[in-house]
Parts: sequence; structure tokens; C-alpha cells
Amino acid sequence: EIHIVEDGATGAEVVADQFARTLREAGPRGAVLGLATGSSPVPAYTELIRRHREEGLSFAGSRAFLLDEYVGLPAGHPQSYHHFIRENFTSHVDIDDAAVVSPDGTAADPVAEAASYDRRLVEAGGVDLQILGIGSNGHIAFNEPGSSLASRTRVVGLTRSTIEDNSRYFASAADVPVRALSQGLGTILEARRIVLTATGAQKAEAVAQLAEGAISARWPATVLQLHPDVVVVVDEAAASRL
Ligand code: GLP
Repeated sequence: EIHIVEDGATGAEVVADQFARTLREAGPRGAVLGLATGSSPVPAYTELIRRHREEGLSFAGSRAFLLDEYVGLPAGHPQSYHHFIRENFTSHVDIDDAAVVSPDGTAADPVAEAASYDRRLVEAGGVDLQILGIGSNGHIAFNEPGSSLASRTRVVGLTRSTIEDNSRYFASAADVPVRALSQGLGTILEARRIVLTATGAQKAEAVAQLAEGAISARWPATVLQLHPDVVVVVDEAAASRL
């Protein structure tokens, strides 16, 4: 299901509606939310914070699993994804801080940490709603081109283009970690519902591949074509090559 929206505010509402529906369906036990970092989901998080404050939308009982985390950054580091999600979303709503988890980028054994993260996802009952952004090269989470379409949470290397794209959050590209712990494409596909959001012309090729390209590790997001419940929310610039 592809929504082409006229501006970011409308897109944020469409994405927030997916969260509201998932929370409603989960009821008082709360939902298992799969959260993404990057700039794309932030307007939706802001809209969810507004609905929480002004309309009483509650996340009580819900848990959140992040898609990925940089290797080497502790959860409290200002550029860690765990810090980002607290700052931009979870600390502003009624979700328990201890219920927001990300892979531990400082684990002494990152391989064991990756396996443990997958186990924790299963033990939580799986993700009810996963929000995704998309990299300009078609990556989702940190599944760069060439990632196995069946991959699980694991240690991954970042491509030069992703390091450059993400360097805006760091003092320089040299400060961007070169490895991350990332849910795999196979892990992401297990979420019961997925909403992907993208804006801007720099995402147009990736969005066109996602919706219309052949399923291939060359464009990792194309694997989402195999999922039965994906909502894609894009502005006209990101939709310009559809
Ligand atoms: C990072 C994240 C992805 C995100 C991507 C796009 O690489 N690991 O989850 O989708 O950036 O970021 P943005 O939304 O800022 O364009």
C-alpha cells in the first residue's frame, strides 16, 4: 500500500495512524514496537508525542526494539541510536525506559549479542509494527547492498555512502563508526506489520526499486515485496521515479 502525500505533516499522520491502530489492537497488554532512527521517522514520532499529550494516546505496557546500533557506542553516547530514540520519542511518552532496547554496541562479544537480540525479539512475541526508513542505496536498518535476504541480527560493515550520509550527525565522517549491529532482512520480515517512510529526491531511486524493482540483495529494501502488510508513505519527490 503506497501513500504519496503532499507534505511531511500529512505523512507523519499516516504513519502515526498505523501506530495508533497497532496500539488499539494490542489493548492493555501494550504492543511490541520496532523503532527506527534516522531523520525520516522523526516527524511521525513528533506526531505520536503530540497525540500522547493532547489526545491521551497511551503506550503503557508497550515495549520497543530498535533496528540497529553502532558498534563501539555505549547506549548513553549522544550519537548512539538508543540515545537518539529516547531523545526524539520514547522519553516523551508513557513507555517504560527499561522496555526500550537496542543491540548493545559495547558488548564484548558482538556475535553473541546479535544472537541474543534475536532471541529477545522472539521471547517478546515478535514485533507488532515495525517502522522503517530507507537509505539512498536501498538499505533498511543497516542491511547494505549484498546483505542476505534471509539475514538475522548480526555485525555488519557500513558502506562509504552510508557513512557519508550519516556523517551529518558526527563532527566528521572519520568519527562515524564503521560497523553496526543490525537486525537482518529476515528478522525485519518477521514483523507483523511494517510502515516505511521516505522523503526527498535523494530517496527516489531506492523507493522506485523498493516498489517496482526485482527482488535482489542489490537493493535490500526490495525484500519487503515478500511481506503481506507493508505501508509505504512517501512525498512527491521520493515518489518521483515510480
Ligand atoms: C541509517 C539507519 C536506517 C535509516 C537510514 C536513513 O542508516 N540505520 O535505519 O533508514 O539511516 O536515514 P534518514 O532517514 O536520516 O535518511
